[in-house]
Amino acid sequence: MLKGKRILLGVTGSIAAYKSAILVRLLVKQGAEVKVIMTPAAKDFVTPLSLSTLSKNDVLVDIAGNDTWANHVMLGRWADVMLIAPLSCNTLAKMANGLCDNLLMAVYLSATCPVVVAPAMDEDMWHHASTKNNLAAIAAFNNHIIPVEKGELASGLVGDGRMAEPENLVAWLQDFFADTAALKGKKVLVTAGPTYEAIDPVRFIGNHSSGKMGVAIAEEMQRQGAAVSLVLGPSNITVAEGIEVIKVRSANEMYEACINRFDSMDIAVMSAAVADYTPVNVAAEKIKKNEGSFNIALTKTKDILKSLGEKKKAGQLLVGFALETTNEKEYALKKLESKNADMIVLNSLNDTGAGFGHDTNKITIFDRQGKEYTFETKPKKEVAKDIVNIIIRSIHA
Ligand code: CTP
Repeated sequence: MLKGKRILLGVTGSIAAYKSAILVRLLVKQGAEVKVIMTPAAKDFVTPLSLSTLSKNDVLVDIAGNDTWANHVMLGRWADVMLIAPLSCNTLAKMANGLCDNLLMAVYLSATCPVVVAPAMDEDMWHHASTKNNLAAIAAFNNHIIPVEKGELASGLVGDGRMAEPENLVAWLQDFFADTAALKGKKVLVTAGPTYEAIDPVRFIGNHSSGKMGVAIAEEMQRQGAAVSLVLGPSNITVAEGIEVIKVRSANEMYEACINRFDSMDIAVMSAAVADYTPVNVAAEKIKKNEGSFNIALTKTKDILKSLGEKKKAGQLLVGFALETTNEKEYALKKLESKNADMIVLNSLNDTGAGFGHDTNKITIFDRQGKEYTFETKPKKEVAKDIVNIIIRSIHA
């Protein structure tokens, strides 16, 4: 459940900071991407070098340092969750009052992601009325508080105030993501990649689709809690574990794989570059060359998106793609209508960095309600997030 999750870990000045190294290691082991911000005081308890080595990312302490500017707004937007562990009494008080005297506080105050804290302090500090007030204040800001644990404290006393153990923090995050997953309980069908239409045993008609966009969408759907079935044309791309992969070759095989599965799906995203035509006859033996020209008779393939559009029931959401070179918007809107889709994702080949063979894409999404969403050129994984977010917004509208 933590695979691919972006976790921004804030480490503050508490003796429990030594456990951050174990926490980072556990999170990375679970497949999470971890970036660490430390308060200056935290550096007295654990070194930035340890945490950057374990997280495989630079550790940030200052807004400006080592000739780089740490963009606090982008960090809070990058993360799926900001976890402050350990949370010291001092940082808790700053959070409750909106003080902004270090990078961690700047990121906290500008974070758009959920914020979770794991306090750590001595028992008397934990039970102090001001601590209670400050915790109530941050709870009112919708911050989540992971309860402290009972046990031996740094002072030598035994009582409440220990930071929850790293294993328990990881378990808490797993439950949190499972409970808050926007597509929890949803079944999603995605098509991806090219199709190959056989001419003879050694030749085919194909296209340059890599399948990257569709696989990124399938993986993002899974990250959001959906059960995903991916119908994948010929491609060597690797797919995250847990996604059901149905490997197909031709447009007809892709059609067969989709048409029956669709009935039980909540969402279908047709991102494959399906051949529009296929040879009428497939030669049983390799075709030998002759003098003169050579023609292949082609017949139209079944339009999978359109067929699903005809079968679509209330409550099902169908998304198609359009790759256009001219009159992009007009053609995209026509496809929305003629294929009875709920959304069309348009990539224009006129945009640099968009379409086949790139790791980036530039899209515009058109929906049935007449809305149009435009996005900048981004890595395909980011584009997949944008598409899935629009889908989530639409099904929760
Ligand atoms: N598509 C499909 N089955 C086909 C052809 C296309 O499911 N046999 C889907 C694609 O996966 C995509 C959408 O239809 O989601 C648009 O595909 P595109 O090839 O751009 O559109 P066409 O309808 O084939 O129109 P044209 O080639 O004229 O642009």
